[in-house]
Amino acid sequence: MHLTKEEEKILDGEHGVILERSLRLLTKIGDFENADKLIPISKSQIAGVSFKTAGKPTLDLVEHIAEEKVRVKTLATLNPAGMPLDTWKELGIPEDFAENQLRLCKAYGKLGIKPWCTCVPYLPQVGNIPEKGEIVGFSESSAVVYVNSVLGARTNRHGGLDALASAFIGKIPNHGYIKKENRRGTVLVKVKCELKGTTDYSALGYFLGKEIGKGEIPVYEGIKPSQTELRHLGAGSAASGSVALFHVLGVTPEALSFEDAFGNRSFSDKIEVTRDDIDTIFQEYSLSETPDLVAMGCPHCSIDEIKNIAEMLRGKKIIKDTRFWVCTADQIKKEAERLGYSKIIKKAGGKIIPHTCVVVAPIEEMEIQNVIVNSAKAAFYVPRMTKGQVNCGLLSVKDCIQQITNK
Ligand code: F3S
Repeated sequence: MHLTKEEEKILDGEHGVILERSLRLLTKIGDFENADKLIPISKSQIAGVSFKTAGKPTLDLVEHIAEEKVRVKTLATLNPAGMPLDTWKELGIPEDFAENQLRLCKAYGKLGIKPWCTCVPYLPQVGNIPEKGEIVGFSESSAVVYVNSVLGARTNRHGGLDALASAFIGKIPNHGYIKKENRRGTVLVKVKCELKGTTDYSALGYFLGKEIGKGEIPVYEGIKPSQTELRHLGAGSAASGSVALFHVLGVTPEALSFEDAFGNRSFSDKIEVTRDDIDTIFQEYSLSETPDLVAMGCPHCSIDEIKNIAEMLRGKKIIKDTRFWVCTADQIKKEAERLGYSKIIKKAGGKIIPHTCVVVAPIEEMEIQNVIVNSAKAAFYVPRMTKGQVNCGLLSVKDCIQQITNK
């Protein structure tokens, strides 16, 4: 990979050990991926923030870096942490977990990273919004796939560490989804059934991710999803199939026509999706026990999703002993408070929870054994992230609310 004179100096350690190691990591990745050079970025999203996934080694590393007084060069935001940073006691988060989580977020903050802790930094209330064609370094799979597919910006699927390294350097290796020629569709997906709401889209993405191999770029035909449904579609396929880019014909910015989506590239395959295929995903995650927790917000809820939930909960009461979480970004929670949605959800017995989600919070340490979610991504990860200690069911938002409310 070609390096500029300035980059050579960084590698020689002229700008300190953290920048030297960061650039060394990026050049290793670049060489492995046959990148020709590094290219500038101005926005980053850093994963590996929950103490549950990051653990003590990451805490030690980030605290060590913070002592070196190095700061990020990009607008960098954090992925969800393992708890709401201010109201964690109310939720029953164990004290030792909270102490480590607060230390980790504080250390990231010292690096100049915004402690916004959300997987939807690209929503307007949050403000880390890549523009069409812009090259960025994002590292949470649902954010990566949304930024690439729906915003038409360009990012690879970074890990937390290389996203952090690239935020220090302000550059990423030029390869993969950064290059226009690698962004054409590879599989045509004909959707042959009607989809109703976000959970159906989430299940479609999840089904498709399981069907196709890693690195494929599906092009959907026969659907007209909303922005929120696109988020759920992408998150589902990113979870089960590591999909980092998809197109929807006539909807997403790089697929306004068939030629746009596929270019001259011949697509290898065609998949047809029926209602039975979608239903298999709901069957895979069915739960007969009464849930201890029903969690919305994977990916974090938009204000429209919260409004919808509030409207469904108006005048109802959530059954005793079932917790109801609506996970979102702190900025969106505040908007929900201004608009009165929080009050309705609270009156019904639920909570809007900022900074965290059901997957990265230590729910297995909080007397929670059975969970229902409206997201195939969350249904996939909850049992895995709790080492099988928590069961998870998948239902639409409407069915979730019907199951746990009394008039
Ligand atoms: Fe976001 Fe947590 Fe889901 S990070 S995409 S809400 S697993």
